[in-house]
Amino acid sequence: GRVAVFMGGDSAERDVSLNSGKAVLSALLSAGVDAFSTDVRGCLLKTVENPGFDRVFIALHGRGGEDGTLQAILSQAGIPFTGSETLASALAMDKLRTKYVFEGCGLPTPKFRTMASEKEAEQIVSELRTPLSVKPSREGSSIGIRKVRTVEELVSAYRAAAERDSLVLVEEWIEGPEFTVSVLQDQALPAIGLSTDHEFYDYDAKYLADDTRYRIPCGLSAEDELQLQQLALDAFRVVGCRTWGRVDIMQDADGQFWLLEVNTVPGMTDHSLVPMAAKAAGISFEELVVRILEDTLG
Ligand code: DAL
Ligand code: MG
Repeated sequence: GRVAVFMGGDSAERDVSLNSGKAVLSALLSAGVDAFSTDVRGCLLKTVENPGFDRVFIALHGRGGEDGTLQAILSQAGIPFTGSETLASALAMDKLRTKYVFEGCGLPTPKFRTMASEKEAEQIVSELRTPLSVKPSREGSSIGIRKVRTVEELVSAYRAAAERDSLVLVEEWIEGPEFTVSVLQDQALPAIGLSTDHEFYDYDAKYLADDTRYRIPCGLSAEDELQLQQLALDAFRVVGCRTWGRVDIMQDADGQFWLLEVNTVPGMTDHSLVPMAAKAAGISFEELVVRILEDTLG
């Protein structure tokens, strides 16, 4: 049947999604799949009225497309779609609640708390070890995230994050290095090590800078990489993800790994990490996309 690639959308990650969607569509076409792309804006319910497709490849990032909303609508309409289902999508989009689940399952995640008002800044700085990372809980591509050291910086970062989401997460900063582990059909792909001259792997470092460095092999010993991959699979499993995703993990100076989050529709642009990890495992971009699609048939 015909496959629709859903891309674009109305989230803050719209531009990233347009790039992911274009890359996915061209891979599907070159694999001989009958596919087209559609920019999904406005009410998501419209997408399932008289659909001219039998399956959906979800290339939407952020709220609306990646957060369970679309997944619920497609499930209700009986239209198969790629990736995680409703609950895992909603959970993974919410970094705060994901951390509650990690903690509840005994998986390591940096110490954290929520911040509901500027007045809490002093208390938080005395409770947690600085520097801190301040994040809108339900956002992607590092949008709205800041590293802070002082009460004043925390107040200003809180304001910026609260503009993005009513739910603001503050966690202890782990200096890194940062790693990311891609998961495909419940298998961990080779880990990627990330380094940047930016303060962290932020939006610019992700999509614009050409001096961001990606290490595959990631530079860990085989034993440590296996432990990292196992941690990623554990995270993927406790969140309840399906088929594919990407787990972001920090390593501290003592060598301990700390889970940051799970992404259920990771970027698929030509700068993106899942395609890079797949390539290192001998899986072409075309094969990657086809394998993600195949799983929708159950
Ligand atoms: N949220 C972006 C697309 C990622 O995780 O790759
Ligand atoms: Mg994310």
